[in-house]
Amino acid sequence: MIFQKEAVLGLGCGNPVALAGLRQGEVVLDLGSGVGIDVFLASKRVGESGKVIGVDMTKDMIKKADSLVKERGFANVEFRLGEIEALPIEDNSIDVVISNCVLNLCPDKKRAFNEIFRVLKQDGRLMISDLVTDGELPREVKDSFDAWAGCIAGALERNNYLKLIRDIGFSEITIVKETPYTIDVSEELKGTILSISVEA
Ligand SMILES: C[S@@+](CC[C@H](N)C(=O)[O-])C[C@H]1O[C@@H](n2cnc3c(N)ncnc32)[C@H](O)[C@@H]1O
Repeated sequence: MIFQKEAVLGLGCGNPVALAGLRQGEVVLDLGSGVGIDVFLASKRVGESGKVIGVDMTKDMIKKADSLVKERGFANVEFRLGEIEALPIEDNSIDVVISNCVLNLCPDKKRAFNEIFRVLKQDGRLMISDLVTDGELPREVKDSFDAWAGCIAGALERNNYLKLIRDIGFSEITIVKETPYTIDVSEELKGTILSISVEA
């Protein structure tokens, strides 16, 4: 794979592009796009008539992703600096929202999912890979900076995650894939942290 070195930092927890059923001509938004691996993969699936936008709040990630766009000459890809909680994207303009291991990092998940709802077209869909928990995490884990940075402390309990999405107005919500997440997870938490891919 041509981007193995440059665009893969190994920070994802799923493969939303493979699961999203992307079609030629669709407009895709990747939330927390990092250096762009999922954006570049999606760009091939939507083709020249489609478009993929990556949004990330970290300037260095956007800079690196932009340099890859220039280097490789992608015409249907754009990266924007911004926060998921206040997306730099027009209302009702996106066919598919994807994201890979990022929503757990958002302190205000309700605001983030409201933003996703705002930018999606009426018949749009989301395919989000993220970490959730089976049961509540111990207080000391929730308060741990390392556990936040490791995408664990901010993970919601699985049913609360699904309820949040439903309450915002999404329908046809399905967990299409669920696996135990074990990377950098302590022995006592193994089995509690799950990687899920949710469609709605
Ligand atoms: C765990 S990395 C995942 C990167 C990428 N999705 C991947 O799979 O390689 C999390 C990324 O989300 C970005 N991020 C975290 N919280 C964000 C927020 N609230 N708004 C925008 N970007 C955010 C970070 O800057 C970082 O690039």
